[in-house]
Amino acid sequence: MNKLRSINKYLYKYRFRLAIGIFFIALSNGFGVLSPQVVRHAVDMITTEISYNQYFVDTGLETDFIRHFGKTILLFGLIVVVLAIFRGLFLFFMRQTIIVMSRLIEYDQKNEIYNHYQKLDLDFYKRNTTGDLMSRITEDVSRVRMYSGPAIMYTINLLVLFMLVIFTMVRVNAELTLYTILPLPVLGLSIFFVNGIIERKSEAIQRQLSFLTTISQESFSGIRVIKSYVQERFMNAYFSGECEKYKMKTLDLARVEAVYFPIIFLLVGLSTVLTIFIGGLQVIEGKITPGNIAEFVIYINMLTWPIASVGWVMALVQRAVASQKRIDEFLNIQPSIAFIHMPSSEIRGSVEFQNVSFTYPNTGIQALKNISFRVSPGQRVAVIGRTGSGKSSLGQLLVRMYDPEVGSVLIDGKDVRAINLFALRRQIGYVSQDVFLFSDSVFNNIAFGLETEDVDSNNIKEAATYASVDRDILDLPEKYETMVGERGVTLSGGQKQRISIARALVKDPKIVVFDDCLSAVDAQTEINILGNLNEFLKGRTTIIITHRIFSLFNFDTIIVLDDGEIIEQGTHESLMKGQGAYYELYEKQQITEKAVAG
Ligand SMILES: Nc1ncnc2c1ncn2[C@@H]1O[C@H](COP(=O)(O)OP(=O)(O)O)[C@@H](O)[C@H]1O
Ligand SMILES: [Mg+2]
Repeated sequence: MNKLRSINKYLYKYRFRLAIGIFFIALSNGFGVLSPQVVRHAVDMITTEISYNQYFVDTGLETDFIRHFGKTILLFGLIVVVLAIFRGLFLFFMRQTIIVMSRLIEYDQKNEIYNHYQKLDLDFYKRNTTGDLMSRITEDVSRVRMYSGPAIMYTINLLVLFMLVIFTMVRVNAELTLYTILPLPVLGLSIFFVNGIIERKSEAIQRQLSFLTTISQESFSGIRVIKSYVQERFMNAYFSGECEKYKMKTLDLARVEAVYFPIIFLLVGLSTVLTIFIGGLQVIEGKITPGNIAEFVIYINMLTWPIASVGWVMALVQRAVASQKRIDEFLNIQPSIAFIHMPSSEIRGSVEFQNVSFTYPNTGIQALKNISFRVSPGQRVAVIGRTGSGKSSLGQLLVRMYDPEVGSVLIDGKDVRAINLFALRRQIGYVSQDVFLFSDSVFNNIAFGLETEDVDSNNIKEAATYASVDRDILDLPEKYETMVGERGVTLSGGQKQRISIARALVKDPKIVVFDDCLSAVDAQTEINILGNLNEFLKGRTTIIITHRIFSLFNFDTIIVLDDGEIIEQGTHESLMKGQGAYYELYEKQQITEKAVAG
């Protein structure tokens, strides 16, 4: 229960709603225990009045007597109906307050988790799978809701009902009360036991079901591979095999459930038999009236379901505890990229790496070793190196996706850790190596990251033109309103890259970082793009990460990385003169380009 402490703040937030809910529970049960008492009066009246009937036989008053008798019974019936209506009405209000409260808590909790997710850094996302992130915000939250709604409601309901019923029963006859409620704990325990079995079997079913979901998801997204390797039949067999397992598990559960209800009814029946037997003896002794027996039978039945649900409620609480534990695990993770609340300042654009070394925390791979370089505002730098040489890591440190282990990254002479994180990221136009477009229009994909009031279609178009993708977009069926991403048109890799370049440019950044984002375009397009970008990049610090040499572009400095280290640094001319790694790379590229062209 301690684990559910995190929910208390929400219960406190909705304390008035909860209090009103408890009030309705009390009212509803109050009306509930009244009706058996009406039944008692009715039964007692019938037994006594029936015996008076003999006096009216052959007096001519018999019909009057019977009519009067019928009317009284009708009246009792009406009272019972009215009481039931009130009980139902307050039951409705009870659900309306408490279940609605649990929905509100669910909503708050989802927002809390989602907001927290957004704050966590890349390392967190590398360590945890998307499925895991999703299930905590969906399944786990709804399990916790079963605690804050139904579990709390049924528990309070049981307590209130139990007190009221036992109180009224004891007032009638303590001995009979004791005998009749004797089988109830047995009922509660056995249901709890059976529930445990059901619970375990349901878990197994759930696991199998999610496995089935994974299989089908993978086979839909990998359908091309399946078809080209002619594995349809194999996949079918595999899938139906797993379905078979799922079926067996569900049938197994159905068998357990089949004995569940008979047990409940048997035990309830036992209580009723006991009530009538012992009650009957006491009627004979004159201790109670036949009406009391009728009343008790109804009480027993009123207690049955709440007691039967104790096991269920306990299972709900157990599940909620486990789920809340999983949720808290994530909520307690603090982003390692600290959020320092500094005033946001304008960036001028100088970039400096001072003896930076960096190791990926999740894998222990050292990606950068003692990197130092300086870029003045407005300069253009190329970072060149083979795949795996640490180029992307360098770019990610600059936008503070990670913090360096040793050394520091400075912007305008200030450690990035001392700069307002959001202001920093907002003023750097970073295009990552793996482009990602949202399932939205091209327009919105480019405008992503702008404040709503800053969205201007001229700027979007201008950015697209600089990124050399404007013409491509105008060729799309609905131009800028065309849907892209998972549910939209299929764009080529190069088009996606250029749209993501436009997205970075539209922010009007002081510093631009392109991570291998021209890899999917051909040489001619590349020349066009660089030509168009030339204009835009004037006066902006530019860092272009690439595995290919752009000889047409005038870089102030070229940094050559290998295995996380800077092995050469200089201008195109000086590096060519040096005849080192850069020179070799250039020569090799010339040969392949000629071969392709020829
Ligand atoms: N998210 C990551 N987690 C762990 N290791 C990584 C991650 N990204 C890259 N690496 C490793 O760091 C090294 C440098 O990678 P990267 O910076 O992506 O090189 P490049 O961009 O030059 O291809 C590689 O050995 C790579 O395997
Ligand atoms: Mg890379």
